Amino acid sequence: MNNYIKLIKRMKSIIPTHIKPKFKNEKDLLNWNQKKGLLSSQSIQKKNNKKKIKKILKNSGIKKLYINCTFKNYNIYNIGQKKVLNFSKKYAKNFNKKFSNFIFSGSPGTGKNHLATAIGKYLILNKKKILIITIAELMSEIKKTFNKNNTLTESCLINKLIKIDLLIIDEIGIQQKSQYEKIIMHQIIDRRSSSKKSTGILSNLNYNNLYKLLGERIIDRLKLGNSSWLNFNWKSYRSNITE
Ligand SMILES: Nc1ncnc2c1ncn2[C@@H]1O[C@H](COP(=O)(O)OP(=O)(O)OP(=O)(O)O)[C@@H](O)[C@H]1O
Ligand SMILES: [Mg+2]
Repeated sequence: MNNYIKLIKRMKSIIPTHIKPKFKNEKDLLNWNQKKGLLSSQSIQKKNNKKKIKKILKNSGIKKLYINCTFKNYNIYNIGQKKVLNFSKKYAKNFNKKFSNFIFSGSPGTGKNHLATAIGKYLILNKKKILIITIAELMSEIKKTFNKNNTLTESCLINKLIKIDLLIIDEIGIQQKSQYEKIIMHQIIDRRSSSKKSTGILSNLNYNNLYKLLGERIIDRLKLGNSSWLNFNWKSYRSNITE
């Protein structure tokens, strides 16, 4: 404090008379210092939060291409798009209220990943843990646990997958399923459903083909709770994208 007083005294003696000093006394100076300190700590906090969210987005499996996808920039040209957009908004908003699975099924480029990402981002901002992962990536993560040097075991990884608030499994049906993949899918969906954890499925397959691929047991579990089946059957949006 003594230093402040000395500083103000010195400033007073050297400042030309026509200049009004910012601080008339040490209390003013102290207040100014405190305000500055608060502003700078708020700005650091903001920066840290931004960094934290960026890291969470990366860990949530959201790919670069989809990072800017929101409900707002999902354009509506037909009634089907309106329906899936409204469903997605409502799903995200009511996520805390009920356990509910969803299946987005339909043609390529119709916005299944776009809306799944928008749901995921909304939930992340509401402190939920989400993961969007293709079935191929999921199987590759599980296969990594077979390596003796890997400290994460298969059951630990599956336990982690059960704890995620919303798990979205993408590209179901892109490649032929092995019996082992079916067992893993069954295990994950069965355990998530019995823990009342919601799961989303994204696929180009229609109901009959998805039923054939996953089997009655998995489809039956996906239908638990307030599950919803949404059809995305319109022209691909990809030809509209120029950059
Ligand atoms: N209605 C829309 N409004 C704005 N952008 C859209 C719309 N539909 C799709 N897109 C954009 O088009 C691209 C393709 O969409 P997306 O990847 O979500 O389709 P998809 O249904 O998951 O396709 P696939 O079955 O091939 O995986 C994305 O960049 C997405 O943001
Ligand atoms: Mg997709």
